[in-house]
Amino acid sequence: MPRRHPKKPPKDLDLSRNLRVLADLESPLDPTTLFCQSGPVELEVGTGKGMFLTSVTSASPDRNFLGIEVSAGYARMAASRLASSNTANGVVLHGDAMDLVRHSLPNASLSGVHVYFPDPWWKARHRKRRILNPEFLEHAGRIMQSGSQLHIWTDVEEYFHEATSAVDDTSLFDQQSDESPGGPETTYRTHFERRTRLAGAPVWRAVFGRNETPPQKSRLIAKRLG
Ligand SMILES: C[S@@+](CC[C@H](N)C(=O)[O-])C[C@H]1O[C@@H](n2cnc3c(N)ncnc32)[C@H](O)[C@@H]1O
Repeated sequence: MPRRHPKKPPKDLDLSRNLRVLADLESPLDPTTLFCQSGPVELEVGTGKGMFLTSVTSASPDRNFLGIEVSAGYARMAASRLASSNTANGVVLHGDAMDLVRHSLPNASLSGVHVYFPDPWWKARHRKRRILNPEFLEHAGRIMQSGSQLHIWTDVEEYFHEATSAVDDTSLFDQQSDESPGGPETTYRTHFERRTRLAGAPVWRAVFGRNETPPQKSRLIAKRLG
């Protein structure tokens, strides 16, 4: 589906509390330091226009939510939605999620990871850009606390099977269930979920729990060298 250019937020809106640039932050990064309140931190990869962050921050005010978005325009747009509703527990990072998990986030620093409608990168030569790749998933296992949940939703059946089988290959997660929409027909978790369901297309959903298996550093190093 084609995407429109993100709308520019009003010039006078203060985004300083809700928008950060990954390249400007120290590494390793303690994600709790990005928020003005204490509490567990969950990560959303590919925040887009920010529908999930806006609703989840309001529904769970005691938890903190960090979005990472590679498009500067969408990162600003999502942050402006948070700023407009005076949200203290939501921050959007402008940057690449692969850099964030590979270089910045320490072990067991997150209480949940959400990946909704990741770009499918259809062309064969672009496939390596898919975010739900073995290296990303190994890092997700490393940075997630045991018992925390990894949510994967997509409208691309083939990507769903590829991703869930890559999750299984890590041995760091146990599949908990196929996640249901969790609301009436008119309740949507993300903008792309809304578009997909209104078009009458299926949404493939899974939720995994991080198990107690310690991540093996050597596996990550071997993948980087290979
Ligand atoms: C198909 S859109 C889905 C947006 C939103 N999650 C939703 O469901 O409405 C995918 C989003 O992921 C972002 N994205 C793609 N690759 C990324 C990466 N490596 N790091 C961060 N964001 C990325 C894109 O810019 C885009 O906004």
